[in-house]
Amino acid sequence: MADSTDTKSSNQMWGGRFASGPDAIMEEINASIGFDKKLFAQDIRGSIAHATMLAHQGIISAEDKDKIVQGLNTILSEIESGNFEFSRKLEDIHMNVEARLATLIGPAAGRLHTARSRNDQVALDFRLWVKEELQKTEQLLTNLIAAFLDRAEEHADTVMPGFTHLQTAQPVTFGHHCMAYVEMFGRDRSRVRHAIEHLDESPIGSAALAGTGYPIDRHMTAKALGFREPTRNSIDTVSDRDFAIEFLALAAICAMHLSRLAEEIVIWSTPQFGFVRLSDAFSTGSSIMPQKKNPDAAELVRAKTGRINGSLIALLTIMKGLPLAYSKDMQEDKEQVFDAAESLELAIAAMTGMVRDLTINTERMKAAAGSGYSTATDLADWLVREAGLPFRDAHHVTGRAVALAESKGCDLAELPLADLQAINAAITDKVYGVLTVEASVASRKSFGGTAPSEVRKQIAYWRARN
Ligand code: ARG
Repeated sequence: MADSTDTKSSNQMWGGRFASGPDAIMEEINASIGFDKKLFAQDIRGSIAHATMLAHQGIISAEDKDKIVQGLNTILSEIESGNFEFSRKLEDIHMNVEARLATLIGPAAGRLHTARSRNDQVALDFRLWVKEELQKTEQLLTNLIAAFLDRAEEHADTVMPGFTHLQTAQPVTFGHHCMAYVEMFGRDRSRVRHAIEHLDESPIGSAALAGTGYPIDRHMTAKALGFREPTRNSIDTVSDRDFAIEFLALAAICAMHLSRLAEEIVIWSTPQFGFVRLSDAFSTGSSIMPQKKNPDAAELVRAKTGRINGSLIALLTIMKGLPLAYSKDMQEDKEQVFDAAESLELAIAAMTGMVRDLTINTERMKAAAGSGYSTATDLADWLVREAGLPFRDAHHVTGRAVALAESKGCDLAELPLADLQAINAAITDKVYGVLTVEASVASRKSFGGTAPSEVRKQIAYWRARN
């Protein structure tokens, strides 16, 4: 598009009372077209719905509406095919589209902005964009959960050490560990669904802040744009950005979950742990050390959390001091959300690929599961159940058995019965049945526990909901 404005002349959209155009620096700080051109499809959809409603209500003529809709569709294909010249002098996506419409269809273009303002227009465009992003995120999380469900099923019986303080605690199954992430990402996905519920109201028709005297039909535009209903307060509508903050907040929580998983993958894939091997597709080599295989994707997923947290804090800070209603500060909302959305999408997709491709070293996991006296609690529980000891006493007896095994350099299950009986006479050879890691996990059948039978129930629960 030819740029009809120059720096000397005033703005063709709002320049009526201005004798001269903006200073070059003013233009630079004011313009948002560099990033809000991302909203072009939403802007055009919103304008088509608005013009259609204006004609339906007899506010503009059907002929003008037809010209407007046709012109807007032309602009849509121009932008989609890369044949649209964005102009910084026209500030933002709204004025770039409208100026082009004027070139294409003439004076009828000037009727489109009846009964609306850029304030409700930008609130609409951005809501539509965030809503679509939330729907994408919901699908990405569903894919990630599906990947974990498959791995959990495959490894419902695979024993690994469970950790607290990153110290070996009790044996668990790898399936159970996978299902912990299914719970986390399941909650993330329900936060996404709630966020969609919250923002599903149409802003258009709130105008600058006070509503309008034209006989518009906001229910009609809300319906045409796929919103549940129109917003109920015009002042709130043009000043609200909590739908964007809610997106950033749920993105930050989800990124935190992804980052914990990334950290585990980094640890598990070290030669020292050797629990998992990353596929070639999701790792890199070192340019100097030929033996290395680095978990770069996991590290970058971990790092994206920092950016997403930053975006959340940035937008909270931008908004916190603003009086109602619209202030130009709010123009700074978009880059934060665009950046966080891109990071989150990429992080979830990369994690889904890594989880699907991960090779699990079941032998290493099992060997590690049995080390560090991980079945000590099982010995104590046996003493409570079979010998009637109070748990505190059983804990003490077990502590002595662990100390003895440690001094002999063996596992609990390798202590001779006579040694165990010297510590507590009630111990019989039946105790050896609970000292293996398999027996340990199989016994933990409490609801939500690590027993393979229990993990399979939880997999079935989530399969029915994914
Ligand atoms: N580019 C602006 C933004 O993103 C659009 C709204 C401008 N409204 C105004 N009254 N200046 O917030």
